[in-house]
Amino acid sequence: MTVHFIGAGPGAPDLLTLRGRDILARCPVCLYAGSLVPAAMLAHCPPAARIVDTAPLSLDEIIAEIQAAHAAGHDVARLHSGDLSIWSAMGEQLRRLRALGIPISVTPGVPAFAAAAAALEAELTLPGLAQSVVLTRTPGRASAMPAGETLANFAATGATLAIHLSIHNLAAVVADLAPAYGGDCPTAIVWRASWPEQRIVRATLATVAVAVAGSMERTALILVGPAVGGEGFAESRLYAPDYDRRFRPNGADPRFPGDPA
Ligand SMILES: C[S@@+](CC[C@H](N)C(=O)[O-])C[C@H]1O[C@@H](n2cnc3c(N)ncnc32)[C@H](O)[C@@H]1O
Repeated sequence: MTVHFIGAGPGAPDLLTLRGRDILARCPVCLYAGSLVPAAMLAHCPPAARIVDTAPLSLDEIIAEIQAAHAAGHDVARLHSGDLSIWSAMGEQLRRLRALGIPISVTPGVPAFAAAAAALEAELTLPGLAQSVVLTRTPGRASAMPAGETLANFAATGATLAIHLSIHNLAAVVADLAPAYGGDCPTAIVWRASWPEQRIVRATLATVAVAVAGSMERTALILVGPAVGGEGFAESRLYAPDYDRRFRPNGADPRFPGDPA
C-alpha cells in the first residue's frame, strides 16, 4: 500500500500528467483538495473508488482516512493543486506518514506560475532583464513569513516575482514593490489560469490596482518585473550564428570539436 501524492496542475483537467492520470486510475481511494482541484479530474478514478474532498477536514482526519486505507491494503491517490513542491501542505502529511511507516510516492504537476506565464505567452527570464523568478507570497492568517522574506527584499534583486495567495493584498503588494521597481514596472494578474473563465490584466505597478478594481479574488497570480513586459531584451547568445557550442561547433578553433553538430 502506498500513498501517491499527485500534482493536479493549475485547473485544466488536461494539464494533469499522464503519470498522475494512470496512478489515479488504479487507486481505490482518492483524497483531493476540493477547493482547487477540478472535479473533472476525478473521472479518472475507478468507478467504485472512495473519493473524499479533504477541504473541510483537519490534518488528523486526513491521516485517519489514509490509515483506514492502509489497514485495508488500498493504495491512495492524494491530489493537490499545481505542483507539490510549493504551498501544498504535503510536507506535514509526509512527516506523519513517515512516522507511521506508510510508503509514499510523489508525482509532480504543472505549477500555477507556469500556467500563468503560458496564459501571458511570456518567458519570465529574458536576457538582460531578469534571470531569476521568485515564487513568493504575502503573509496570511495561517502563515507568517520568515524574517527576511519580504517583498521589498525580493524586489531589490530586480527578479521576476510570482506572488501567490495575495490578490486580496494587492494594494500592499504595490506599496512594497514600487520603491524598487518604479510605478511603470510591467505587472500582470492572471486569475484562474487555464480555467475556462481565465482572466488576464496587464498593467503597471502604478495602474494595476485600478485595473483590477477588486474584481478578482483567491485564485490569482501577481507577476511583477521588467521581464513581464516582454520588451527591451537582448536575444539569447545561445542561438546567435557565431556562438560556438557543443551542438553547433563554430569558428576556427571550436571549443567542442569532437562533438556532433
Ligand atoms: C495554495 S497555493 C497552491 C500553489 C500550487 N501548489 C502551485 O504549484 O501553483 C494557491 C495559490 O496558487 C495560485 N494559483 C493556484 N492555481 C492558480 C490558477 N489556476 N491561476 C492563478 N493562480 C493560481 C494562487 O495564487 C493561489 O492563491
